[in-house]
Amino acid sequence: MARYIYINGQYAPYHHAVSHVEDRAYLFGDAIYEVIAYINGYYADERAHLDRLERSLKELKIEMPVSRRNLQLLMREVIRKNRHKNAAIYIQISRGRAKRDFKFPANDTPPSLMIMTWDYDFESKAIVEKGLRIKTMNDLRWKRRDIKTILLLPQSMAKQEAVDCGYDDAWMVDDHGFITEGSSNNAYIVKDKKIITRPVSCDILKGATRNAIEKLCDQSDYKFIEQDFTPEEAYEADEAFVSSATAMIAPVVEIDDHKLGNGKPSEVFHFVRKEYLDYVHGLKMQPMSWESGLNA
Ligand code: PDD
Repeated sequence: MARYIYINGQYAPYHHAVSHVEDRAYLFGDAIYEVIAYINGYYADERAHLDRLERSLKELKIEMPVSRRNLQLLMREVIRKNRHKNAAIYIQISRGRAKRDFKFPANDTPPSLMIMTWDYDFESKAIVEKGLRIKTMNDLRWKRRDIKTILLLPQSMAKQEAVDCGYDDAWMVDDHGFITEGSSNNAYIVKDKKIITRPVSCDILKGATRNAIEKLCDQSDYKFIEQDFTPEEAYEADEAFVSSATAMIAPVVEIDDHKLGNGKPSEVFHFVRKEYLDYVHGLKMQPMSWESGLNA
C-alpha cells in the first residue's frame, strides 16, 4: 500500500516527499516539531500538543502556516490515506526556504509544513513487561530545552551511547548533578508513594503526557512532586518510569547497573499507565491545555 506524507500543500507518495536543500530546517535546524499518538481512533492529548506547537512557533517567531483547525484536518487526512489503526503523527514546521543567511528571511517567506505518520505499537509487550535499562550521561543540549525544536543531535548521541553500552535509553544529567530528562521523554522516580520529577523550566521539555500524569495523580493516593533528583537518589528509588507521546508510560527497571525494586515493572508504573490509557480513551478527565495543564 502506498504511504503518503503531507508536504507543503501536497499529499506526496513516500518516494516523492522531498524538502528543498535551502529549507532552513536543513541548513540551521530552524524548525519545531510535535509528535502525537493516534491510538484506536483517539488523538492522544491533541489539544496540549497543538498548544505547545503554537507556543514553540511563537518563541521562534515563525508563523503558523495554516489554522489549527486546518492542521487537524490535514493530520486526519494523512491518517485516513495511510489507513492507520495506531500511528505516531510527526508534524514539522520550519521557517521555510531562503538563501543561506543567519538572519531570519523576510516575513513573507512561507513556513514549510510536513506531516508524516507511521504505524506504532503503543502496547509493545517487550517494553511493558521487561522495562527499560537506563544509562545516565551529561546533558549536552542548549539552554532552551522547553522549545520543541528539531535540534536533537545531543539526544541522538546520548541514546546511541546508551545503546552502544548495552542500555535501552539515556537519562541526562545537568552541570549540578541533577537528572533533567530522558533522551526523548520525561523521567520520574518513585519513593514511598511519591512520584518525583524535575520541575518545569527551560531545562526540560514540559511533556503533554507529564501534564496528564500530574492531574491523574491528584486524584490518587500518590503524590506528584516536582523536585530535582540525582542519579544516586534514582538508584535508591522503589521504581522509575518515563513518559512521552509514543512511549506513553514506560517502566524503568535498571539505572547504571543498579536494579530498582525487584527489577520488574511495578505497582506505580502499572497504575499510572492504566490511568493514562483511560484518559486517552476519554474515560477520565477532560482534554487538557498545555500551558496551564488545567482541564479545558
Ligand atoms: N519526545 N522530553 C523530551 C526531550 C522529549 O523529546 C519528549 C517527547 C518529552 C515528552 O513530551 P510529550 O509527553 O509531550 O510527548 C519530554 C517525542 C515523543 C519525540 O521526540 O519523538
